[in-house]
Amino acid sequence: MSDRPEGPGQGGAEDGTAWPGRDGARAFAAVEAATDWLLGYPFVFRALAHRIGAGEVLVDYGCGPGKVADEAARRLGTRVLGVDTSREMLAAARGSTTAVAAYHLVEDGRVTALPDACADAVMCNHVLASLPTEAAVLAVFSEIRRLLRPGAPFVLLVTDPACGGTEYASLRIGDPGEVYAPGDELTVRLRRTDGSWQDVRNHAWPVGFLPPLLERAGFRDVVQHRPTVDEALTVADADFAAGRAWSAERASPPLVITTALAT
Ligand SMILES: C[S@@+](CC[C@H](N)C(=O)[O-])C[C@H]1O[C@@H](n2cnc3c(N)ncnc32)[C@H](O)[C@@H]1O
Repeated sequence: MSDRPEGPGQGGAEDGTAWPGRDGARAFAAVEAATDWLLGYPFVFRALAHRIGAGEVLVDYGCGPGKVADEAARRLGTRVLGVDTSREMLAAARGSTTAVAAYHLVEDGRVTALPDACADAVMCNHVLASLPTEAAVLAVFSEIRRLLRPGAPFVLLVTDPACGGTEYASLRIGDPGEVYAPGDELTVRLRRTDGSWQDVRNHAWPVGFLPPLLERAGFRDVVQHRPTVDEALTVADADFAAGRAWSAERASPPLVITTALAT
């Protein structure tokens, strides 16, 4: 592993957004995300499958290159709409996915193409770490709340900054021994598909900080779940889950899924 930050995903745009521009989109597309495909995305799909029917509208908020949105559309049979602040991510997503119904730009914190209460569910995966302030997190939650019809579910996937310094199969969050307060900067290290590591400057949002903020944004019935490797053996792709030891993931599972309902 490199000891120094490197590559285009390092740092962020002037507005604090990670993965800016065409280089950011290209860099994120090269990330492997094995830990996420074990302990994250399959559990997001499972949480949604309980609550959304075929043909209903699922918004992927901060969809990036669209891989997860595409997989959600295939697995859930829903009409998936991807939205993101990055035109380059959306261009990459349009060029590489086939099951997503449409992509829309988030401009000035709003998906202007989408009306209030148009969504039967929203998922938001690994977006909060890009956001530099509590106000920015609250603004994202509020826009997601605007999109959801009352009673509809929101599923949020984050890495836990309390798992600092452990090297997982495809990521390392922050530095060993560090304790991160809300909004603190930290470096997240992501393994690329070629085995090298990409450093990204992110922000820490401790998972206990999220439920009160969701309630302020108009959500209720907030529940948090930390998926384990043993659970993943029955939820994630069986061959993929059985293919590695996942020792760090077993010792200290780093991903947390928060579900809530729009009021
Ligand atoms: C780490 S990527 C995750 C992409 C995808 N959700 C996944 O899990 O593969 C974060 C994405 O969030 C987008 N993003 C950052 N801030 C955002 C905001 N305020 N609203 C919507 N998208 C945002 C970035 O452009 C980027 O595509």
